[in-house]
Amino acid sequence: MIPPELLNVADYGRAAGEALTPDVFDYYDGGALDEVTLRENVASWQQLKLYYRVMAGVGPRDLSTTVLGRRVSMPVLVAPTAFHKLACPEGEVAAARAAGRAGTAFCLSSLSTTAMEEVFAAASSPKWFQLYIYKDRGLTRELIARAEAAGAEAIVLTVDAPGWGNRERDARNGFGLPPGLTVANVAPVGKGDFPQVQGSGLAAYVRTHFESALSFDDLDWLCATSELPVVVKGVCRGDDARRSAEQGAAAVIVSNHGGRQLDTAPSTCHALPHVIDQVAGACEVLVDGGIRRGSDVLKALAMGARAVLVGRPVLWGLAVNGEEGALSVLEILRRELEEAMLLCGYAEAGQIDRSILSP
Ligand code: FNR
Ligand code: LAC
Repeated sequence: MIPPELLNVADYGRAAGEALTPDVFDYYDGGALDEVTLRENVASWQQLKLYYRVMAGVGPRDLSTTVLGRRVSMPVLVAPTAFHKLACPEGEVAAARAAGRAGTAFCLSSLSTTAMEEVFAAASSPKWFQLYIYKDRGLTRELIARAEAAGAEAIVLTVDAPGWGNRERDARNGFGLPPGLTVANVAPVGKGDFPQVQGSGLAAYVRTHFESALSFDDLDWLCATSELPVVVKGVCRGDDARRSAEQGAAAVIVSNHGGRQLDTAPSTCHALPHVIDQVAGACEVLVDGGIRRGSDVLKALAMGARAVLVGRPVLWGLAVNGEEGALSVLEILRRELEEAMLLCGYAEAGQIDRSILSP
């Protein structure tokens, strides 16, 4: 049962603001610099118009689809986000269980506060591992091997973060992890804690440990290192997406990291059509950033995305009510997509096409 005061995703955002300490809420909510991209991610989906079709005889809807060859109950997946134990005590396990109950894919961040083996053991739906390439390649290889052994079905390489977007809220708050929480996947090798610095401890962690000279050679390296499908996350250009597909990516995610990396990057709604055109079916195209309503999902599918991912909405759900809260957020998006499909004249997710975006 969804509490009546929590009708939509934005309600969960507001309630999360009351549930979390200000520094954690700022970390979850904030973006880089002036947060222009952060705002436009949300606004651009809202502004797109739907030229709905009438008397289409729709009736019951089928929202299911496949992603990387695996069936999911709806085209809304859980994006990788860091540090879930800041939101609720069960952390990433709660999020993975919620995705499993919703029948959709769960992507675990490299920067989880729970070790991947424990999270993947709790996941009952398709599970993906998001990879940041550490300067220490041996450690990076070990993370990939552990993910494979723990049952991950894809490696999601995040490519929009060779350096860290300057999140000024985090700098002002001196964002860090409270005692007891670590970057759990690498804590056993002594890389679980942030450096003690002024400003954002996370930014300092990234500067210390992550590869800043990330290149397409690293994609080749990853494709050669892992047997699993590789997903390239964080592209905004058609040419980069096309090259990723040519070099072996099974999918790309059009993403600007939720407006947290390069500020004034285009909203993902604006970037998506260029990627769809250039990729021209060479790999699957997913998108995330600013998806807050079922109608946003429908618009992304209309442009040619196979599915969307949601980041903050799931964190807000976790913050408000743990696993149940995260599940509620996913179910709200499902219900809204179902309603939008009915009102637009679609019975199946696979039928949603560009024609709905123009008269
Ligand atoms: C993220 N994102 C992210 N991406 C990634 O590849 N690895 C990560 O560890 C994280 N961590 C992370 C933490 C937080 C607090 C947020 C808000 C985001 C980016 C995430 O996967 C996704 O691209 C965006 O969150 C999508 O935008 P929305 O849905 O939050 O608007
Ligand atoms: C973030 C990470 C960890 O955006 O990717 O904070």
